[in-house]
This record gives sequence, structure tokens and C-alpha cells, in this order.
Amino acid sequence: MALPSLLALSLALTLNASGSRSPPAKPADAALPPDELGEAVKLGKKLFDETGTHPLTRAFVGNALSCASCHPDSGAHPTASTLLGAATAYPAWGPREQAVLTLEDRVLNCFMRSLNGTRPPVGSKPSIALTAYITWLSTGMPVRLNAEAPLGPHSFAKPAFVPSKVSVERGRKLYGERCAPCHGEDGQGDPPVWGPRSYNAGAGLAAVPKLAGWLRATMPPDAPLASDADAVDVAAYVNSQPRPDFVLRDHLPAGDRTGVYNSSVADEVDRAPTWPRRK
Ligand code: HEC
Ligand code: HEC
Repeated sequence: MALPSLLALSLALTLNASGSRSPPAKPADAALPPDELGEAVKLGKKLFDETGTHPLTRAFVGNALSCASCHPDSGAHPTASTLLGAATAYPAWGPREQAVLTLEDRVLNCFMRSLNGTRPPVGSKPSIALTAYITWLSTGMPVRLNAEAPLGPHSFAKPAFVPSKVSVERGRKLYGERCAPCHGEDGQGDPPVWGPRSYNAGAGLAAVPKLAGWLRATMPPDAPLASDADAVDVAAYVNSQPRPDFVLRDHLPAGDRTGVYNSSVADEVDRAPTWPRRK
């Protein structure tokens, strides 16, 4: 085979239609390390699936969600908000925090925002187990620290977002057809997508382009939304509904238990459209 066609072949094998690398395979159970380390990885997977109800994590969760509510197949889905390969990107630069974040920091921040709860202490059992599990999901993959954002090599694409072109009304209709059968017309189905039991205004999904990109890869589960325009309109509708505000200091543990939370955003406040009601 001539060199150019060999090159084309290897590109076709590593690049998918959108031009990004195709997702790596999930590690085989046989790759589970022995003894205590393997036990920590297994516990981490359990906590990932049952964050909201497990005795080790439920006190840190303030809504009806678990990690797996947004990262399907325990974070090991090939395309839908996958955490395969994510650990290879850390430590990473966090523009929001203006600090270098470890994978453990990234995991703990999800408790404050996506799970609307409290940041578990650094080095606590659930924190170590979850981080061990997510690291295991990158078994065999090369480390490439990310100097731009705390995101792994297979994070989903975010569609362009032109506020003047968004139709919340069209989003409401699409939501009724494609989403309400599971999440309810009132958004309070299983799991709830707005209101006091959903993610707060500081979560990644509270940003319309991020929610739109996530929907394109993830929802509905059997056939995700196929167009950027549909995803942006549905995302705008979902995020126009009430949800908890985010006031960072309310989500940090007591001062003596924070560890070094390396953040210059200690007074960060994000307001959701209408929840809780304005005074
Ligand atoms: C409400 C939805 C939601 C929940 C719940 C949630 N996440 Fe996430 N998570 C996201 C989104 C959205 C991103 C950002 C992905 C992006 O921008 O590409 C993300 C990113 C991450 C990342 C960084 C991924 C990368 O590519 O570097 C990690 C690690 C992570 N989440 C772990 C967790 C863990 C652990 C939990 C539970 C404690 C959790 N998440 C709960 C939505 C969620
Ligand atoms: C067939 C049922 C079904 C349909 C239809 C569906 N979802 Fe979901 N959705 C789920 C399930 C189940 C989860 C939890 C993750 C999992 O188990 O895969 C979820 C999780 C979510 C989450 C993250 C967790 C939360 O509650 O905030 C959002 C946001 C979401 N869906 C939005 C949508 C939107 C918007 C649509 C329509 C475009 C949609 N879903 C269609 C079943 C569905």
C-alpha cells in the first residue's frame, strides 16, 4: 500500500466523523488491580452509581441525582458524556478557579454544583474511591495534561450558541415530545431536570451550550437529539426553568475540613432564572 493511503487508513481508524478521536475502549474487568486498590476502584464505581443513596456519600448530595445521572454506564459509555480517558488530562488548568486542579478537586467540585451538595473533604474515603475508579477508566492511555481546561480528550462538542437565534417556545414543544415522557411536563420526573431536586445554577449543565452539547450526545438515551438547533432550543427551555442558585460558600464544608481549596472564586454566586424566588 502506498504511504498516503496508509496514512489515510490510520487517520480513518483514529478519527471519527466529527474529526475528534474515537473513544477508547472500556478497561476489561480483568484489568482490575488486586487487593485493597481493586476494592477502592469497585467502591468508587458503586458510589458513582449510587451517590445520592449510599451511606458514604448521601450526606454530601443535595438533590435527586448521582454521578451516573449525567455520565451514563457508570461513566464508561463510549460517547455519552464519557469519563474514559478523562484522568489523563489532570492536573489541568481550571480557568474558573484560576488554579491548577487535580482530578480529585474536579470530582469534589461536582458535589457542590451538579449534585447541589457539599464538597467532601480531600482525602476522605469516598473522594479517594471515586478518584480511583475514574483513574481506572483511563487504564493504558497516555497522560496529556490539559493546560486550557479541566476536560479529558473525549469530552463532548459544544454547539455554537447565538442567543438571538434561540427559540425557547420551539424548545418547549420539542421538550414535550422528546423529553416529557420520562422527565414530565413539569420537569419533576425521574430524574428531575429543574426545580429544587435538580442541578444548581453553578453546574456545567446550567450553561445552555454545554447542556445542548450534552443532549446531542446523551438524551433521549436511545436516540440523542440529532440537530444542534434542536438541542440549543431544548437546552434554552430547560435552563429557563427554576433551579437552585449557586452560592459557593454554602457548598464548602466547615473551614477545618476543606483542605486547601485552591480557589480565587470564594464569593462566586450564580443566579438561576427564578429559583429560589427573588426577595
Ligand atoms: C447534572 C449532571 C452531572 C452530574 C450529576 C455529574 N456530572 Fe460530572 N460533568 C458534567 C458535565 C456537563 C461535565 C463537563 C463536560 C464537558 O464540559 O465536556 C462534567 C465533567 C466531569 C468531569 C471532568 C471530565 C473531563 O473530561 O475531564 C469529571 C471527572 C466528572 N464530571 C465527574 C463527576 C463525578 C465523580 C460526579 C459525581 C460526584 C459527577 N461528575 C456528577 C455533568 C454532571
Ligand atoms: C426514555 C426516557 C428518557 C427520555 C425520553 C429522556 N431522558 Fe433524560 N434521562 C433519562 C434517564 C434514565 C436519566 C438518568 C441517566 C441514565 O440513567 O442514563 C436522564 C438524565 C437526564 C439529565 C441529567 C440529570 C438531571 O435530571 O438533570 C438531563 C438534564 C436530561 N436527562 C434531560 C433530557 C432532555 C432535555 C430530554 C429530551 C431531549 C431527555 N432527557 C429525554 C431518561 C430519559
